[in-house]
Amino acid sequence: MPESRCLQGIWSSPWIFIFAAAGSAIGLGNIWKFPYMLGTNGGGAFLFIYCACLLLVGLPMLMAEVALGRTVRSNPVDTVNDLAERHVIHRFWVAIPYLAGATGLLILTFYSVIAGWGFAYAQRAMTGALQGLDMVQSQAVFDDFLASPVEMIFWHTLFMGLVVLSVGQAVTRGLSNVVRILLPVLIVTLFILAVYSMVMGAGADALLFLTRWDWSGFTFDVALSAIGHALFSLGVGLGAMFSYGAYMSKRMSIAKACTIVVGLDLIVSILAALVIFPLTFKFGLDVAAGPSLPFVSLPLIFGALPAGQVIGLLFFALLVLAALTSAISMMELFVAWLHERFYTGRLKAAFTLGLGVWLVGVAVVLSFNHWDAKLLFGLNLFEIIDQLTSFIMLPVAAIALSILVAWVVPKKMLMNEMLVKNATHFRWWYTTLKYVSIPAAILITVAGWIGA
Ligand code: PHE
Repeated sequence: MPESRCLQGIWSSPWIFIFAAAGSAIGLGNIWKFPYMLGTNGGGAFLFIYCACLLLVGLPMLMAEVALGRTVRSNPVDTVNDLAERHVIHRFWVAIPYLAGATGLLILTFYSVIAGWGFAYAQRAMTGALQGLDMVQSQAVFDDFLASPVEMIFWHTLFMGLVVLSVGQAVTRGLSNVVRILLPVLIVTLFILAVYSMVMGAGADALLFLTRWDWSGFTFDVALSAIGHALFSLGVGLGAMFSYGAYMSKRMSIAKACTIVVGLDLIVSILAALVIFPLTFKFGLDVAAGPSLPFVSLPLIFGALPAGQVIGLLFFALLVLAALTSAISMMELFVAWLHERFYTGRLKAAFTLGLGVWLVGVAVVLSFNHWDAKLLFGLNLFEIIDQLTSFIMLPVAAIALSILVAWVVPKKMLMNEMLVKNATHFRWWYTTLKYVSIPAAILITVAGWIGA
């Protein structure tokens, strides 16, 4: 049987790997988080650092993760264990996949809640509740929603249920088909909305904001946000891409596939920003409003568009689907591991882990309303989990996995793995990862922590 049609979880065509990896990468991080982070971090300068992080840190690290995954074709925990048992690496590294898996689950606790917002807004779009809103009304719709934990928990529960059911099936099945349709539709929809928003909204102000090179506010904090978000947006450092690498056909070029994934991820983020900022400026919303920004500004476009009700419904439904294909990756590591190591049924493993995630998610919901207690450094639970994962756990896991690949695993083994036909490409990647990506990521992360 040709490898491309092997049923043992190998992707049935090279493009399907790209769709699946892009499905994992593209999600709330692009449409919800990226625009509001641009807003809170000052626009153009952040965009520039973000792109640099994506290319110089995110892409090489993504390739590292996929390559290592493809080497052993197993889940990250067993892979690292196996390498340690064969004395290729020290036992110390065994901790890293657990950290990666825990980071994924922790991210999912708030990711599911925000995806639930997408559900709620899809429903509102469908019933026409978003039609003809002005800025004040849109803010009021959002505030009302945030003030009703029961509704938020309902949508969070629905989303987690879908995640558990999807992860309960093997990842290769179904998912790739969804993404193959979802991705082009999402990009086209965003493109149309971006054009409309640029023309009808304050397009010039938005462009100015996105290209403004104001370095006065630059701190390592901002750089850490950029690097943390680049890793978040690509889904690097969680072992998710590792799992996809494990399913990847040997004939495919890792460099090419990963570059396409990074490109698609960036395109979606930029399009989302081009939809949101013209509205933000036209209606005088606060660009630094934070997590509420996309949800307050987006309804304004649907209210004004002809057929806005249908387009609004389509948009939020796409958002939830994109979130679903990302959320699946966050659980995949531990589900695959429990399944392969302890023969736990995938559904049972997904349900058990999902229950824990759901419970913490309920507490996250409450942190938006009844339980807005500042628990640590003036942050509530949602903010703590968001910052802990983006600024600490994700960078540490990604850096550690990359060090493992670049400095610890023998180069020969990697070269064989990557089926190096073009040694120049390999050398570029390897050298960049070793001497640029890892040191830059360490420097920025540590400088960001100590508040330089
Ligand atoms: N990349 C996803 C997003 O941008 C989030 C994600 C993080 C997915 C980590 C998988 C792993 O929404």
